[in-house]
Amino acid sequence: MPTVWITGGAGFIGSHLVRFFVYSHPDWRVVTVDALTYAGNLANLGEVLQKPNHVFSRIDIADAAAVETLWEQHPPDWILHLAAESHVDRSILSPLDFLHTNVSGTVTLLEIARKRWGSRKDVLFYQVSTDEVYGSLSQEGFFQEGSPYDPRSPYAASKAAADHFVRAYGHTYGLPYVISNCGNNYGPFQFPEKLIPLVLTHLMERRPIPVYGEGKNVRDWIYVEDHVRAIALLAEKGRRGHTYLIGAQNTRPNIEVVTLLCKLYDELTGHRDSESLITFVKDRPGHDFRYAIQPSPHLYELGWRPSVSFETGLRQTVEWYLTHTDWLDAVRTGAYRSFYEQQYGERLL
Ligand code: NAD
Ligand code: TYD
Repeated sequence: MPTVWITGGAGFIGSHLVRFFVYSHPDWRVVTVDALTYAGNLANLGEVLQKPNHVFSRIDIADAAAVETLWEQHPPDWILHLAAESHVDRSILSPLDFLHTNVSGTVTLLEIARKRWGSRKDVLFYQVSTDEVYGSLSQEGFFQEGSPYDPRSPYAASKAAADHFVRAYGHTYGLPYVISNCGNNYGPFQFPEKLIPLVLTHLMERRPIPVYGEGKNVRDWIYVEDHVRAIALLAEKGRRGHTYLIGAQNTRPNIEVVTLLCKLYDELTGHRDSESLITFVKDRPGHDFRYAIQPSPHLYELGWRPSVSFETGLRQTVEWYLTHTDWLDAVRTGAYRSFYEQQYGERLL
């Protein structure tokens, strides 16, 4: 039985990927490898935890001894690597956490994979990365395959460093790898510190909605399930040693996203005045202005297409958050509340 490790499988994107893999590959053993930080939650996996082809292991990927022990128990054929500190605002407050997981954690996995896999060519290290490694665009242009790396936040710098390590292991030791860089994901199970779920929680609690600067910064949004299908496809059929860009060609200024959320929320709940909660606050330091992705042509040749429009995906997301308030209560622990206070306390005074 082939075995795939999905690191970060209890997080937002990881939990969707675990679910996808467990159901679409019943002949594979799926091992979720996750430290369960503030962002990881077993509630994201639900019934998958009971499936016979799924194993959950709580370890820190930077803990080499723990990774070695898990390798003895469930040696992987593929590693789909998503475990990361993933929030830019937190990276501005505590960059060392990002060095620990995103850089040291990735290199720990690579180092053990190099030793254990030796010269095997039927294995795969798949690095799930972000478009933020390419820096910031002005009003024009796109990130495309071969665009130079130019990370500008501590988060982006840590992901860029990890991507370079993956390529270095491929070049130096012949490790079979694929990297994909994707834009901003949205959908169910996203931790309520990122823009869309944060806006939704503020709408539900009728609190001011913090929009950084003038809300003109642009992000390229993709529904999480579309990202997950692209990862699964590229893991199976992507060229080894290649770096792909994944995107749904859906760029929007933040204020447009927030306004759309307010409209959908009002339509679904009967409120009328949600837009009046929008509050422009002090900007994020070093805030990247615009991300826009030219998706890899090979991804289209392989048959991938986004499955939902932004309006449909956003509507499904709003409906999901409205009907999963128990989940929201469960994930907003004390650690989240103290981060929230540090991040927004002064901004929303
Ligand atoms: P997330 O923050 O929701 O989840 C991260 C998961 O990693 C959590 O379950 C957490 O417990 C786990 N984790 C953190 N540190 C760990 C450690 N030391 N050892 C083991 N597990 C650890 O993140 P996400 O939004 O699901 O992102 C997943 C991956 O996709 C990340 O690598 C991120 O850089 C990348 N990515 C995210 C987006 C996005 O829009 N969310 C876009 C492009 C790429
Ligand atoms: P975010 O969801 O943190 O993702 P990223 O920084 O990785 O793109 O933020 C998306 C955009 O929304 C970004 O331009 C910052 C902005 N933003 C706000 O305006 N207010 C907020 O409270 C948050 C969290 C983000």
